[in-house]
Amino acid sequence: MNLKKYKLFAIPVILILIQFFQPAKNSMGIGENHIINETSIADTVKNMLSVSCFDCHSNQTNYHWYHKISPVSWIINGHINEGKEELNFSNWKSMDVYDKIAILDEICEEVKDKKMPLKAYSLIHNEAKLSEEQIKTLCDWTSQYSELLLKENKQ
Ligand code: HEC
Repeated sequence: MNLKKYKLFAIPVILILIQFFQPAKNSMGIGENHIINETSIADTVKNMLSVSCFDCHSNQTNYHWYHKISPVSWIINGHINEGKEELNFSNWKSMDVYDKIAILDEICEEVKDKKMPLKAYSLIHNEAKLSEEQIKTLCDWTSQYSELLLKENKQ
């Protein structure tokens, strides 16, 4: 038996077979508790979060054609599941006020340290990259919003 010949076929065959194994889509919709429905937040902030964060941190991902191809779909799905575990903007309005304050602080830290959006994401989604100015706007917002939440909670 000539194994070399079979090896040549193995890769395309595996690539075809794995296409039958696709993770469930993250497409439950925005939901009423989504941060987008929080009227006290400026549209500039919401737009930034929308372009750079919601694909992995909400119940609704905008998929592209290449997301349907394994193993890309598995990697994307892993990012979404992990991202949502840390922070799900679809649950924002139902979150405890102190959880909100804690995560707001982390949001600023993550974007300032250029850890978010994930590099693998911003490489493909060029528009998701945040400029220094945008990072400042986000961090100004997180600190002002935290103060507001604290004040509201004290009353
Ligand atoms: C491609 C998917 C993806 C995008 C886009 C993305 N994140 Fe994340 N995020 C993750 C994953 C995965 C984790 C958990 C692993 C980690 O911390 O690296 C995470 C973790 C976090 C955490 C928790 C960090 C910690 O260590 O506790 C915060 C806060 C966060 N992201 C904020 C953001 C913000 C803000 C944006 C947009 C500017 C964003 N993310 C965009 C995937 C993403």
